[in-house]
Amino acid sequence: MDYGIDPHTALALLEWQIELGATEAIGETPVNRYEAAPVAVPPVPAPAMALLPEVDPVLVARAAAAGAADRHGLRAALAAYKHCELKKGAKSLVFSDGNPKARVMVIGEAPGRDEDIQGKPFVGRAGQLLDRMFASIGLDRAAPDPARALYITNVLPWRPPQNRDPEPQEVAMMLPFLERHVALIDPQVLVLMGNHSCGALLGRKGITRLRGHWAQALGRPVLPMFHPAYLLRNPLAKREAWHDLLMLQARLRETA
Ligand code: URA
Repeated sequence: MDYGIDPHTALALLEWQIELGATEAIGETPVNRYEAAPVAVPPVPAPAMALLPEVDPVLVARAAAAGAADRHGLRAALAAYKHCELKKGAKSLVFSDGNPKARVMVIGEAPGRDEDIQGKPFVGRAGQLLDRMFASIGLDRAAPDPARALYITNVLPWRPPQNRDPEPQEVAMMLPFLERHVALIDPQVLVLMGNHSCGALLGRKGITRLRGHWAQALGRPVLPMFHPAYLLRNPLAKREAWHDLLMLQARLRETA
């Protein structure tokens, strides 16, 4: 049915109504839609349009993520999301890799060049180091056994241009999708790789102080660790990373 308004305006109107407190799309009196003639809603006049709030990308993301019933639906919701500029410059939507039944979910920052080309997280040099790190405590993204497996994703699913840091607004609009992703996978433990994933889920940065201490986010234990890209640049910090991997292994053994 064409009501003479474009989809963006329709969405803005809907969000506006939600902000005003509307919770159900029903009227006070029943309408027999088989008998009622279609009502043409006149276009919103220009002065009224100026009063409409801008579409809030975070609200749209929340609604889209909440509507995803499983991880395939969540991937489709992300693919359909139009408010993140990063999508325009990226080749692929990098959603996840590994075993969705894994006890451990690893959250990185954003895809780099190799991930963008292959459409999978952590497949470049940092990813190869990540695989070796987890292999040292018996965890493998390809393992069919959930007790030995990993599930891997990132805060941002699209590669930022020239691998620049994520903007706060980009993180804010991707956070509802990440939170839903964690809820759908329901891992026992989250491992946050580096500052940006700590910023997104713990609301804190400063990985040197955060790493090696269990924290809590989204109702589950969270272990911040040095990002493998940092370890490639600072090999001496692998000592701390090894300590953190052993902490993770001990926790998994305790709760096996
Ligand atoms: N760094 C990340 O944080 N994620 C990737 O997928 C690759 C590199």
